[in-house]
Amino acid sequence: MNFFIKTFGCIQNTADSERIKAFYWNKGFIETDDWKKSDLVIINTCIIRESAENRVYGLINEIDKWNIKNNKNIKIVVTGCLAGLAHKDKTGKKLNQLKRDFPAVSEFLPIEKISFEIEPLRGKSAVALIPISFGCSNFCSYCIVPFAKGPEISRKMEDILNDIDKAVKDGFKQVMLIGQNVNSYGNDFTEATLVSMGKKRFKSLFPKLLEEVAKKDLEKISFVSSNPWDFSDELIETIAKYPNIDRLLHLPFQAGDDDVLKNMNRGYTSDEYLKLVEKIRSKIPDVRFSTDIIIGFPGEDEKAFENTVELCKKAKFEIAYINKYSPRKGTVSAKIYKDEIPMKEKKRRWNVLNDLINKK
Ligand code: 5AD
Ligand code: SF4
Repeated sequence: MNFFIKTFGCIQNTADSERIKAFYWNKGFIETDDWKKSDLVIINTCIIRESAENRVYGLINEIDKWNIKNNKNIKIVVTGCLAGLAHKDKTGKKLNQLKRDFPAVSEFLPIEKISFEIEPLRGKSAVALIPISFGCSNFCSYCIVPFAKGPEISRKMEDILNDIDKAVKDGFKQVMLIGQNVNSYGNDFTEATLVSMGKKRFKSLFPKLLEEVAKKDLEKISFVSSNPWDFSDELIETIAKYPNIDRLLHLPFQAGDDDVLKNMNRGYTSDEYLKLVEKIRSKIPDVRFSTDIIIGFPGEDEKAFENTVELCKKAKFEIAYINKYSPRKGTVSAKIYKDEIPMKEKKRRWNVLNDLINKK
């Protein structure tokens, strides 16, 4: 029996797919790189924007049509965020709706069924992907992730360090620590202590974990994605202390206008973000930054967009992942705001920022 796996979306999904692959190999399946030659297609899905979700439906329909035309019976298993969202809806409505809409799918598999005990089958990359937490408890108003993956659950430090030891033994010199909100690692183990940037701050265990990893025989340790309100002084000190921690930091800011940021429930102002960037630069002189931006969020008028452009000019990002706002059903922003910025204007703003940051 052959299986084919298609992974959409973020690095979390890429890491999950490495365990899914191992899961099916252990069951006796063999991986193929052509879905038409497989008996089973696993689709690891992303639903962060409508365009990503539509690509998933496109693939399901393509396989379904091909099965009918060629009298084949390739099984389809859907996992990742689409399956997560359906299973987390306790009324069962979402799952039933999906089953009705896509009868060709034989199973919507919650990713939690693929345990972290399974040793991942790593790809060709020189970087070992190490998930350190799962889910997100932030509820940025536009984001479907907390609904699809559930609240943040951190893995035990001991288990993470064991995974890293194994990767080192296997010859890896580079690791990437992965979490939806990587620098809030351990917040679910600790009590909230103070409020930072409008969001609750906990005594995060991330600097401690990062230090333990940096002491290992590794050339480069990177981590994604960080959030500004969890970027503590201890974390900055730890990075400064260990030269094997990557100097390219991914620090999404999403928008440079304070009203938009507030409506996004991001918990900081553009000034606070810039101050953080300056503080990090002063302690780690060779640091560089990449970021995520959302353009066309409801209420982002010309002036608000200019504020985002200004922030970008000041922060001097090396790379930016620019996303056109896409309302996601079930999120607060989709419920209370109209998606009012026309696609043409979203594209224009996308180009402005792309030219400014990515085409230097
Ligand atoms: N619309 C557009 N972009 C989004 N992101 C998250 N949710 C949405 C949405 N509804 C972007 C954010 C996040 C990245 C992973 O995806 O920029 O950092
Ligand atoms: Fe979504 Fe915000 Fe969590 Fe990132 S931090 S996954 S944008 S809710």
